[in-house]
Amino acid sequence: MEARPFPSRALVLGAGTMGHGIAQVLAAAGAEVELVDTDAAALERALGRIRSSLERLAAKGRIEAAEAEAALGRIRPRRSLEEATPQAELAIEAVPEDPALKKELLRRLEEVLPPESVLATNTSSLSIDALAEALDRPERFLGLHFFNPVPVMALLEVVTGRATDPALVPWARELAARLGKEPVVVRDAPGFASSRLGVALALEAMRMLEEGVASAEDIDRAMELGYRHPMGPLRLTDLVGLDVRLGIARYLESTLGERFRPPAILVRRVEEGRLGRKTGEGFYRWEEEPAAPAREGSQGA
Ligand code: CAA
Repeated sequence: MEARPFPSRALVLGAGTMGHGIAQVLAAAGAEVELVDTDAAALERALGRIRSSLERLAAKGRIEAAEAEAALGRIRPRRSLEEATPQAELAIEAVPEDPALKKELLRRLEEVLPPESVLATNTSSLSIDALAEALDRPERFLGLHFFNPVPVMALLEVVTGRATDPALVPWARELAARLGKEPVVVRDAPGFASSRLGVALALEAMRMLEEGVASAEDIDRAMELGYRHPMGPLRLTDLVGLDVRLGIARYLESTLGERFRPPAILVRRVEEGRLGRKTGEGFYRWEEEPAAPAREGSQGA
């Protein structure tokens, strides 16, 4: 594969928490981005969040106000893949962690995009090799795993499958640099490097809460003050979404075994719709703004 330049046109599928952040950083780095979601309300919300994030960065002097405006202008919402121009050099899917859905979209991307375009998934744990089964040309497919909030977090986890062209690794490193991120390169293994370690810590914190070892706030404070984590594992689970972490835990249990079995407290809260910050309650209660929890999380059930 020839050396590839930074993509001037990109497609991002899924306008949720991750998709809108990925669209933002690509546009801020100069790409024309089409952000695709079948849900019109999600697209509208995404554009609002991108605008306020860019304004926040401009207010801090991290980006010129005119550049923030230009970046926003480079993002075009699309209701379907058919509405998008089929010329993107890079497409990243950031739809929910459903393997069948992801495979279907990757297959459709392969149909509409030029054969040399790079296809990527933002999956936080699903196997790149398993997703690649949907593709005729899996050599141009890899994992580009971003972190929430995307405009702030410095990491880009680059995940290579068995079939991924090795030439995509230096390209992905360069892409990371252009997006202001530091890459780590990980081979396809359940949970990669980040989710496997992050979820292990979170599940243990939940078991400690269940056992009454300490309150949610004190468990988090132990990691925040004792280990300098910016956010303790329970508060972070609220930020990421309890449903998202439950999905990853179930997948890791099925691939790595028992030690990733989701604690009952997590399963129950998801069943109750207490999904974290996005629903206003998870291990903590959340107010709309500011980003801090409104009060200490309840202990135990
Ligand atoms: N856009 C732009 N700027 C933002 C922002 C956004 N969406 N969110 C936060 N910021 C900026 C703030 O303006 C602030 O800037 P300054 O330092 O210049 O003041 C800075 O980021 C810090 O924000 P806050 O002061 O509001 O709050 P904070 O210091 O508590 O930081 C945080 C917030 C960045 C989220 C921090 O708590 C943190 O790093 N938490 C851990 C996040 C984390 O671990 N994410 C990974 C989740 S796992 C994942 O995403 C992958 C997966 O597969 C599920």
